[in-house]
Amino acid sequence: MTTQAAKARKKNTHPSGDERYKAIDMAMRKFKYEKDALLEVLNAAQETFGYLSREVLIYISAHLGVRMAQVYGVATFYHLFTFDPLGAHNCIVCTGTACYVKGAGEIVENLSKRFDVPEGQTTSDGLFSLLTARCVGSCGIAPVVIMDGKVRGKETPESMAVQVQEVLDRERLLEAEAG
Ligand code: FES
Repeated sequence: MTTQAAKARKKNTHPSGDERYKAIDMAMRKFKYEKDALLEVLNAAQETFGYLSREVLIYISAHLGVRMAQVYGVATFYHLFTFDPLGAHNCIVCTGTACYVKGAGEIVENLSKRFDVPEGQTTSDGLFSLLTARCVGSCGIAPVVIMDGKVRGKETPESMAVQVQEVLDRERLLEAEAG
């Protein structure tokens, strides 16, 4: 392990406080920070963020102790990875086992229907992305949804639909006011 990677791991998660980085931390821990786990870690990052930003790639590079060139090389080689950003707001529904048995599937289905957006995609107005991830490490409050980077627990299809509607209404109001 390089000293730099060891230092990066000591700082628990991303300095921004964005909870989504926890999913990347979990994937790296699961594979004991093995460099060979790069593909799995990129996959976890893609599932959680919906795309791979430069910042995420730098984070993974620093924590796994793998050079950026190699991280980019792997990320661009596989077509399953995307570098396009998400909509203005995003909801990541955890579909790990604990969340799934507590109704995560219904949350995804309801949001998809209500806001007319297939899982893993963004609404045509670019305002809302609906994503799923495997366990994000908060099983005690399942089912878990990460809404705009904040973890929300014990959600229901209806409670999430209300929250998303509120955020989108606010966004549309701001747009209308801005003319
Ligand atoms: S399964 Fe959803 S937080 Fe663990």
